[in-house]
Amino acid sequence: MRRGLIGTISNYKGGTGKTITAVNLSAALAIKKKKVLLIDNDPQSDSTRSLVKGPAIIRSCMYDLLNVDEEDKIPVEDCIYPTIQDNLDIIPNIPETSGHEIPLAQDFPGSNATLKKAVYEYAVSNYDYIFIDCPPTLSVFVANALFCSDVVIIPMTAGSGNSLEGIKGVMDLMLSMKEQNNNLKEFKILINKIDRRKSAHKANISNAQMRFGEENIFNSTIPTSSDFETVEAIKQTTIFNYATRSKGANAFRNLAKEFLNLFENRN
Ligand SMILES: Nc1ncnc2c1ncn2[C@@H]1O[C@H](COP(=O)(O)OP(=O)(O)O)[C@@H](O)[C@H]1O
Ligand SMILES: [Mg+2]
Repeated sequence: MRRGLIGTISNYKGGTGKTITAVNLSAALAIKKKKVLLIDNDPQSDSTRSLVKGPAIIRSCMYDLLNVDEEDKIPVEDCIYPTIQDNLDIIPNIPETSGHEIPLAQDFPGSNATLKKAVYEYAVSNYDYIFIDCPPTLSVFVANALFCSDVVIIPMTAGSGNSLEGIKGVMDLMLSMKEQNNNLKEFKILINKIDRRKSAHKANISNAQMRFGEENIFNSTIPTSSDFETVEAIKQTTIFNYATRSKGANAFRNLAKEFLNLFENRN
């Protein structure tokens, strides 16, 4: 039986590249014939908009899986949809899921296991890699993602010293979850929107290396490219569909290669 690896993509700060990483790393691995599931754990639903063929087809989704009041749990299979990319499926989200945050928080700490109970067995048995795109918070949604993960990918913006604080927030939450989830041993920082000529970028990167350890930072980096904004505006596309020879697509291909070198055959 296949045992998939689960990665949470998180940073407490917004706009650091969580969603472009979730979408394009998933797509890059799917293009390499891996079977990938992306769980859109952000009620803002940005990865859903990028990948679902037509949002009108969504019937059941994260809203149902995280609903603490649900008497009859909806099977996870009913919440999984194909995407515009072969080999990549998604559990979509809708804005209404944000209403579950308070009920879940009231059920803390038992509610940390809600997502795991709903998806874990099916996901690790049917997919090689599962990524969970998280909101820019340290909420019960993120705790739920960490509770079922093996690894955490933390995108940081090269030009923003503040995104280092966002990394620290995720690491603290991760440490507090470790006792409940022994599988969660590792985190990897991904440097996004990089311009090596800029001194602020150099300073932030060396700060990140000092604070979090060079070995915890991917060698691959993601350059600033307006192609990502165009892809976001078009919707229902990835960097590979839009501009497969672009520097952004190459960067995600390299990241996928590095990711596989690190994590393939890990489970
Ligand atoms: N490397 C990049 N180059 C240019 N724009 C980027 C890059 N990475 C992210 N963006 C843009 O920045 C914004 C935030 O990215 P996103 O992935 O949605 O971040 P998050 O999910 O962390 O909030 C989006 O508009 C996205 O298109
Ligand atoms: Mg996002």
